[in-house]
Amino acid sequence: MPALVLLGAQWGDEGKGKATDLLGGSVDYVVRYQGGNNAGHTVVVGDQKYALHLLPSGILSPGCTPVIGNGVVVDPSVLFSELNGLNERGVDTSKLLISGNAHIITPYNVTVDKVTERFLGKRKIGTTGRGIGPTYADKINRVGIRVQDLYDESILTQKVEAALDAKNQILTKLYNRRAIAVDQVVEELLGYADKLQPYVADTVLVLNQALEQDKVVLFEGGQGTLLDIDHGTYPFVTSSNPTAGGACTGAGVGPTKISRVIGILKAYTTRVGSGPFPTELFDEDGEALRRIGGERGVTTGRDRRCGWFDAVIARYATRVNGLTDFFLTKLDVLTGWEQIPVCVAYEIDGKRVEELPYSQSDFHHAKPVYEMLPGWSEDISKAKSFSDLPKNAQAYVKALEEMSGAPISAIGVGPGRDETIEINSFL
Ligand code: GDP
Ligand code: IMO
Ligand code: MG
Repeated sequence: MPALVLLGAQWGDEGKGKATDLLGGSVDYVVRYQGGNNAGHTVVVGDQKYALHLLPSGILSPGCTPVIGNGVVVDPSVLFSELNGLNERGVDTSKLLISGNAHIITPYNVTVDKVTERFLGKRKIGTTGRGIGPTYADKINRVGIRVQDLYDESILTQKVEAALDAKNQILTKLYNRRAIAVDQVVEELLGYADKLQPYVADTVLVLNQALEQDKVVLFEGGQGTLLDIDHGTYPFVTSSNPTAGGACTGAGVGPTKISRVIGILKAYTTRVGSGPFPTELFDEDGEALRRIGGERGVTTGRDRRCGWFDAVIARYATRVNGLTDFFLTKLDVLTGWEQIPVCVAYEIDGKRVEELPYSQSDFHHAKPVYEMLPGWSEDISKAKSFSDLPKNAQAYVKALEEMSGAPISAIGVGPGRDETIEINSFL
């Protein structure tokens, strides 16, 4: 009963889409368990490039059933535009399953996300503006709208009324916005009901039965460990649990079923939006990482903040996720540096600290302590095995592995499916 979790070990955009797609051909189900269309997962297959936001990356593998679990928040307009886009490119999306318990991102959730950010001014989180936080807030406040609510008009109307009751007061009195009409929202949501129906399923039952039948299930995280609402750099986080435990709650599968947890780890670090980032670079090295790594957001088109590899964060990701493996991505981007700094610890108020500080204020003051590792200049994009890598690249990988606390079982040397060195098999 092999159930694998594949998740981001840093602040997102580590290459989860590519890693999921690589395994997609050998697994029966790929499941998104949290987040929504704040994610942007790039998959490159031959000369085709796909940007997936809400749909699991397994949708590009014909034998694989893609599943949107109960923990995901679904914007129906985005769902259908993504499905249409794939259908136009010849991708069969008919196997998709969506949990009836998944919450819906309503138009008012998107509005609230945008106005809240605007009013926060320079204290803003830098969200993707997709309505993610307000939709999860409604879920926790027990005024959320679920996919299954679309099939009972009277319940739906009552729920939208309840959700808008307080929100309209806030929108009009605090934010000077127009009130949102219940009827209009209900009509828009009902408009999706018939189109959604064929996909709606009891995904918890489907996935547990699949595991009983020894099918392979891969859980694909969105975002990353440091963006986790509980374990990330709060409040500069997303509003869900991308960490491994989120796969259990967000898909309804018990922890005893999960056999492997793979952390996707970029060979350097990036972050989008606000919040602390100890190894961030503001010089030409940062600019070079951005340029060579193509570090521009898939969802919002924002430039990603770039910095050196941070082993403190990698160790933390190993701990909070119980990682069994790392998939190290974008090693090729580091080709050409004479020396590569790696952050091995922090200095906080004059003291050396080896592990992620517990206090937010301390983390905001953390200065990276760097160790310099020798670089390499040879093109590594054609490397097929570990021994094809130049000695210094091998040493860089080994050093990261030692510092990070879990074996590096695969290495990405380019964006394509085949541009991967597999060291230990994941299945
Ligand atoms: P995700 O959100 O974790 O799926 O990652 P993104 O798709 O947002 O960003 C990762 C970017 O790096 C994408 O453009 C990928 O095509 C690309 N990528 C993934 N792995 C590698 C790699 O090993 N080398 C290079 N050069 N690019 C990669
Ligand atoms: P993938 O899956 C990188 C960031 C946003 C913001 C914070 C909260 O492609 O790795 P939200 O809209 O979720 O409320 O924004 O989280 N963020 C991401 N950063 N990759 C992502 O997804 C992200 N999804 C959200 O930039 O700082
Ligand atoms: Mg991304």
